[in-house]
Amino acid sequence: MTSEQAEIGVVGLGTMGANLALNIAEKGFVTAGYNRTHEKAFELAEEARGFGGTIVPAKTLEEFVAALKAPRVIVLMVPAGTIVDDQIAALRPLLSDGDIVVDAGNADFNDTVRRTRELEGSGLHFVGIGVSGGELGARHGPSIMAGGPAEIYPRLQPILEAISAKYEGSPCVAHLGTDGAGHFVKTIHNGIEYADMQMIAEIYGIMRDGLGLEAGAMADIFAEWNKGGLSSYLVEITAVNLAEKDPETGQPLVDLITDEAGQKGTGRWAVIEAQKLGAGATTLEAAVSARGVSSRRGERARAAEAYAGLAATSGQFSGDKAGIAELEQALETAKIIAYAQGFAVMDAASKEFGWNLPLGEIARIWRAGCIIRSRFLDDIASVTDSGETVNLLVAPDFVSRVSAGEGALRKVVAKAALSGLPVPALSAALAYFDDYRRARGTTNLTQAQRDLFGAHTFHRLDREGTFHHRWPAV
Ligand code: 6PG
Repeated sequence: MTSEQAEIGVVGLGTMGANLALNIAEKGFVTAGYNRTHEKAFELAEEARGFGGTIVPAKTLEEFVAALKAPRVIVLMVPAGTIVDDQIAALRPLLSDGDIVVDAGNADFNDTVRRTRELEGSGLHFVGIGVSGGELGARHGPSIMAGGPAEIYPRLQPILEAISAKYEGSPCVAHLGTDGAGHFVKTIHNGIEYADMQMIAEIYGIMRDGLGLEAGAMADIFAEWNKGGLSSYLVEITAVNLAEKDPETGQPLVDLITDEAGQKGTGRWAVIEAQKLGAGATTLEAAVSARGVSSRRGERARAAEAYAGLAATSGQFSGDKAGIAELEQALETAKIIAYAQGFAVMDAASKEFGWNLPLGEIARIWRAGCIIRSRFLDDIASVTDSGETVNLLVAPDFVSRVSAGEGALRKVVAKAALSGLPVPALSAALAYFDDYRRARGTTNLTQAQRDLFGAHTFHRLDREGTFHHRWPAV
């Protein structure tokens, strides 16, 4: 092994790390690779040779570090949590001033902020980047959300731009803000991903249980929708999921998969951060909760028995052209509301953490490579580009789209309620919309209650100041 030849190194060659290393090597950057089980690095080196790329495999961390040109750029692609801390601790004595450690995993942005502080003054630079696009994205072009010090970004930029997805030629990567900004934006990306997936699943539930459609027929509908306003990766894969047959039984595979959704935590983080910021991300919350409920399969079976006699009004939905179009419009409208919530959380975080997040740029780098890529993000990009940060729901273009679609969403939610079909994310979208567009809400009563039992005070509409009232004793 020739020493000091690699321009960048990747630690952690699991699915994402391996694919990212191959992607980097394919773009012509000599890449050092280290994995706990070092055979993996040697296998990848072989694979890279196949397309004329160079991955320098290392058996030890020392060898790995020695293979890198100084100042070194080391990308960690290891599971989030203490493993990242352990890996940084193991590397630290081997590194020198000016070296850059990049955490490209799905980290909790709070950890990224903490690690940035811990490494401050150490001579090392720490950069957290969010990478979206799953396995294939990592291999052929992910969307990349970079945080960390702005002055370090130019060092990473050529590599990140080369490996990222391209939307009409422009790279889907940007420096979004300092310390944890990249990981925060990735977390919200995932929260939106959860909401989007949940809403699609709810519409699927209506088609399956309200209309009695077979998976194949639903596949055709989603494939058709993918040509219109809903055109997106998630709708595209839904059609593929629904069309797939189990090779052994010949049945639609989706019908054989248990209804228990897994989750690794990023959706939950998004909701926790939204709550901390006081930004109501109710569709994201509904999606995270729905996954939780789904995982309690045994409990649900018991509850199904307990309420077996409960009557629901059947025949609410219609499977004719107009009925299917109504579902499409409802999904499109709810999606706008979910994305508006996600962007509002980022806007709140940007102000809270002083990141100055470029919301238009975020929409732009999400147009290709990432899991929520869609045509619709291009529209969001133009709205959020206008400079002023407003909730998407009041941007003129979206006002007309939501005005045109809210009737369909309302009908679908109402019909689902009458049919006993759960639509937690769709109804959360509708409730948020109705709440958000109401100038006079109902928390005046909440304030009165708080003041009665806890002297928490209130403001008045008719005069300035803070007031406490002597309510009658209860
Ligand atoms: C992506 C995905 C990716 C992954 C997450 C979410 O942007 O490439 O969001 O990060 O799918 O692990 O997975 P869970 O559904 O398991 O939380």
